Amino acid sequence: MRTTDWRFVKKRTADADGTVYVSADGTRYRRTGGAALRGEAAFQQMAAALGYPVPRVLQQGELGDGTFFADEESLGRQSLHEKALSLLDGGRVLPDQVVDQLAEVSSRLLSAQAAHPVEAGPDALRQWVEQAGWTNNVFAENPDLDTPRTHAALARAADDLTGMPLAWGHLDYGLPNVLPAGVIDWQHHGVTPLGYDVAPALEVIPFKGGAKGYTATPDQRTRYLGVLDAAALSAGSPPISPRLGALLLVKSLFFLALTRPTDPAQADKQQRWHYRRHLFLKGLEQYERTGNIDTAGFPTLDDFAAGQGAADGP
Ligand SMILES: Nc1ncnc2c1ncn2[C@@H]1O[C@H](COP(=O)(O)OP(=O)(O)O)[C@@H](O)[C@H]1O
Ligand SMILES: [Mg+2]
Repeated sequence: MRTTDWRFVKKRTADADGTVYVSADGTRYRRTGGAALRGEAAFQQMAAALGYPVPRVLQQGELGDGTFFADEESLGRQSLHEKALSLLDGGRVLPDQVVDQLAEVSSRLLSAQAAHPVEAGPDALRQWVEQAGWTNNVFAENPDLDTPRTHAALARAADDLTGMPLAWGHLDYGLPNVLPAGVIDWQHHGVTPLGYDVAPALEVIPFKGGAKGYTATPDQRTRYLGVLDAAALSAGSPPISPRLGALLLVKSLFFLALTRPTDPAQADKQQRWHYRRHLFLKGLEQYERTGNIDTAGFPTLDDFAAGQGAADGP
């Protein structure tokens, strides 16, 4: 067999030891890493067997230096995030074509999840809040948020989701990890209530602070959720959209996790941390009041920074 030439793609975002490569002909991706990557590759094989839209693992093993590698098929050249950027053409609204493709992949993922519910114990929802919301980290970095108020809201979120089937999920689902042919980058996988991956996929764009270059309109978000509700109902599951607030409350913790900079002099990072705190608190307040969270009212990072500047000013 001919040996493959690998081209470096990037260091992995959430794994200091991980690297991604692409084969010279673009048909395969290779990830290298440690124990976490072993788990990721094993998970992906299980998910493929359950009919999840994931890349097939083609080969895995150890390299000469003991590093673990997993090779998978390419799902295409462009993530939906890259596609959105290439179609923007000066505007800021996410192209409808991208929303439609996202809805299609999300429906396939949701249907596969609904068809394979996980039998989990009575503590499963609480464990999901902890894992998906990185609550240990968030409370360690933000001790002032570790309050009865936050815990009551999280308990309410778990209550709102009681009765939703649980299924294996991605936990970092969004346009950068979705291609028209399926979903890549399963390193964070875990057990989730149905809908946790797919429902917030357009709602999470504002958490990036407007730096993504595009926004989803309220119409696009409503239409997208409608497609998901239809997919859930046809799989015999409850609709997702009435639970969006509970799902987003946990998502907003995920975005707050690991953002507190160790060095107070890192002004950009300080700002991002305070911004994510602001979005969490805004969502928390809305959720307490209405049981939902509407991301349309979230400020961009620039608006937030300008407001803070004014508040701090003379
Ligand atoms: N199977 C695949 N098909 C197509 N592109 C892929 C595939 N795997 C990885 N990529 C590309 O490599 C990039 C990095 O891979 P990913 O696992 O998402 O890394 P990270 O964990 O840093 O987000 C992706 O954004 C995508 O462009
Ligand atoms: Mg990724």
